[in-house]
Amino acid sequence: MIAVIGATGNVGRALVHRLVAANSPVRALTRDPERAGLPAQAETVRFQLDDPAALFTGVTRLFVYAHATGPDLLDTARRAGVRHVVLLSSGIIKDSSDDETHPIHIVHATAEQHIRDSGLAWTFLRPNAFAANAFQWAPQIRTGSTVRGVFANGLTAPIHEDDIAAVAERVLLDDGHEGLAHRLTGPESVSNSEQIAAIGQALGRPLDFVEVPPGPGRPRTLPARPAPHARRPAQGLRGHRRRTSGDHHHGGATHGNPGAHVRRLGRGPRGGLPLIFSAGRHPHPVRSLWAQARTLSPQ
Ligand SMILES: NC(=O)c1ccc[n+]([C@@H]2O[C@H](COP(=O)([O-])OP(=O)(O)OC[C@H]3O[C@@H](n4cnc5c(N)ncnc54)[C@H](OP(=O)(O)O)[C@@H]3O)[C@@H](O)[C@H]2O)c1
Repeated sequence: MIAVIGATGNVGRALVHRLVAANSPVRALTRDPERAGLPAQAETVRFQLDDPAALFTGVTRLFVYAHATGPDLLDTARRAGVRHVVLLSSGIIKDSSDDETHPIHIVHATAEQHIRDSGLAWTFLRPNAFAANAFQWAPQIRTGSTVRGVFANGLTAPIHEDDIAAVAERVLLDDGHEGLAHRLTGPESVSNSEQIAAIGQALGRPLDFVEVPPGPGRPRTLPARPAPHARRPAQGLRGHRRRTSGDHHHGGATHGNPGAHVRRLGRGPRGGLPLIFSAGRHPHPVRSLWAQARTLSPQ
């Protein structure tokens, strides 16, 4: 039995659907089972630590989010018989990180350390930018045709949340991933302005991206930094310069081929920007960009 904590999350829900489709017994742990809307084939259980038997009895493998884990949970899981935990970590964790003080780094590095210390076998998934991050622009798209934001040419390789779930599925169902950290990206580098143009294409109405300088009063897309680091620019938002010949650079780590990890794990990545935004490629009720894009027309 596999348990998924955060079963209504973008990645968690997609993973539950995948495990059900694979006929793999899955316990979906969620704080609100009544509203979860998860498939009937999944055993949906309320996530509360004071009832460990309900959470983990019969469970050998566990998927968990960084903000939902901790020493008590891990100890409870281990005592109940869990052997392997798969953490949705972040690409911000690098072998030699240049910003170990960023709050996002701290959250994920702390979760990874707790898991390393837990005595459980582990696998870390370290994706970079999610495709769903594009929803940061939703309010502006709903009300107009111009999107104002920082770093028009900032590059990311957004990965579809269901592609992350696909990797988690393989890691949970196959042997051989223990002690590994998988770095995940989407299939191609796109700039913020290209993402806006693609959303406009999907909506059937042109959208323009107008760059504004980073600074106070701008829409916030990352948690606030502690004061000592406030003057340092948000590197993830500034993005990365585009490289030729397929190389992709993520602030220190070079990915010769974005999406390679997904392919290596047995399936191709959701291909290309148009497909990231297209309909019909999303079999599960995760928020797809296209589904959201439909709701972005002026109301
Ligand atoms: N956005 C990015 O670009 C990016 C990049 C790298 C890594 N990440 C990682 O991916 C995460 C986002 O993934 P996602 O989009 O799938 O998340 P999401 O849709 O926000 O879902 C997270 C789920 O976790 C559960 N949860 C939330 N707070 C909790 C708490 N305090 N205790 C227990 N459970 C809690 C909730 O499920 P229930 O309500 O069902 O309990 C929630 O649906 C980030 O938080 C980060 O760790 C994100």
